[in-house]
Amino acid sequence: MAAADKTPAGPGGPPKHKVSDGLEPFKLVEYFSFSSLAVILVFTLLLSWLISENARKVMLEQNEEYSLLLAENLNQQVFRRFVLPAVIRYGVIALRNPEQFELLDDIVKGVTQGLKIDSVTIYDSSKNIISYSTISSLVGKEGVGAAEYQKALKGVPNSRFTYSGSVLSLLGITSEVSCELKTFIPFRQVRRESDGAGDLIMGVIEIEKDLTNNYANIIRLQGRIIMVSSGIMGILFLVLRFIVSRAGSIMERRALERLRLEEKLNQAERLAHLGTMVATVSHEIKSPLGIVRSTAEILEKRIQKLAPGNEHLAKIVIDETARLNNIVVQFLDFARPPVAEFVPGQVNDVVSKVLTFIAPELRRRDIALETALAEGLPSHNLDGELLYRALFNILMNGIQAVTEHGLLRVCTRLAGEGCTELIIADNGVGIAADKLEQIFLPFFSEKHKGTGLGLAIAKNILDSHRAAVVVTSEEGQGTTFSIVFPPLS
Ligand SMILES: Nc1ncnc2c1ncn2[C@@H]1O[C@H](COP(=O)(O)OP(=O)(O)OP(=O)(O)O)[C@@H](O)[C@H]1O
Ligand SMILES: [Mg+2]
Repeated sequence: MAAADKTPAGPGGPPKHKVSDGLEPFKLVEYFSFSSLAVILVFTLLLSWLISENARKVMLEQNEEYSLLLAENLNQQVFRRFVLPAVIRYGVIALRNPEQFELLDDIVKGVTQGLKIDSVTIYDSSKNIISYSTISSLVGKEGVGAAEYQKALKGVPNSRFTYSGSVLSLLGITSEVSCELKTFIPFRQVRRESDGAGDLIMGVIEIEKDLTNNYANIIRLQGRIIMVSSGIMGILFLVLRFIVSRAGSIMERRALERLRLEEKLNQAERLAHLGTMVATVSHEIKSPLGIVRSTAEILEKRIQKLAPGNEHLAKIVIDETARLNNIVVQFLDFARPPVAEFVPGQVNDVVSKVLTFIAPELRRRDIALETALAEGLPSHNLDGELLYRALFNILMNGIQAVTEHGLLRVCTRLAGEGCTELIIADNGVGIAADKLEQIFLPFFSEKHKGTGLGLAIAKNILDSHRAAVVVTSEEGQGTTFSIVFPPLS
């Protein structure tokens, strides 16, 4: 387990803004892009419908025009080549006469041959009855002519358009596509221009044309437009979705980073205030504490004379004030760290000084000390006084961590160009993995009487020396601090 140069984070407070706050304008852009996509899709569908509607209209107009011309031609041909000769030859037109019927049939089929006409039907003018039809089963049927027949009788050519099916027919959802055009024109007696009189209407000619193929082509075109535009819209949607989700996550990350930064700033501010407060209180406590201590020392001497055997009471006061003074000094060190004054020096010198100071404590606790201080190590910019305090705090923790067969190892060695590594290891209780990251946090302590400031102060001091600290620990095995001092600059 290792914790390396972790920046201490203070106690977290509630965040002032939500992450989504920074995303509001982007959300609007997102909604706008998707809704505009939907609007474009609707318009494209509308456009495809308009295009196919127009194509159908043009197709109808062209076919109607064509049918009218054909019917006109048929009118002329039938009158000239059938009506006139028949009247001359037979005296009267009677289509019941097979000879006359065949003659008419030949003429009609001759005119319409190869013209993609489905049927030609001629109605009588006096009675709504079919006198002739290329579909022989229709001949003689009465009352078949509808409104269009009546209109044509009045001299007005007209058409009836019947169709079924739509784009959905392509999917087999609605009925099959079919389309037919029936054109009705009055069958007139053709007169020479010199006759001057108006044309006599002898009947009605109906021409039927099947436009299913053309109509199916239009529907297929409509289907293709819808499919292509839906496809393009689908691709656009996916691309937009991808861009939006990428942009969304990037923005969310940035908003989160900004929030974290703000939070850190707030924390730093709060800690700064707390520090000032602690420093003021500690400072105010320090002087009365000194007075209490010296008074207790005087009392101890007096009690020795006046009430021997009760000196331990004054001793308690002296010890507790000493402990309290220690705490106050720690607080002051943390809240108002002294400004470091660096001079080139050897890490070994400071280490030796601390080890000499703690030697009696090690002996008292029966802790073995192993030292291996390398010689000829480079110099570093050091503040001996501050570094002493930092190493003292780390070593004290080691001393407090070991139980029986305690062993403290302190060694220094050359670590790369101009660097010195100092290793302080103990075989104590170790630190749990989840705690390891917190040991440098101010006020983190697992000790009954600990302030939790020892390592926070040490870290501040080592940071000011630009030294890198790595802690490794195994529960029940011990803890190792590795501190690397940078080259002299
Ligand atoms: N060598 C170590 N072995 C085991 N635990 C350690 C060691 N060093 C630090 N710790 C853990 O880290 C915590 C924080 O240490 P720190 O020195 O900051 O505070 P403290 O020792 O509890 O209090 P103070 O130093 O004010 O007496 C300790 O309470 C302890 O749980
Ligand atoms: Mg400590």
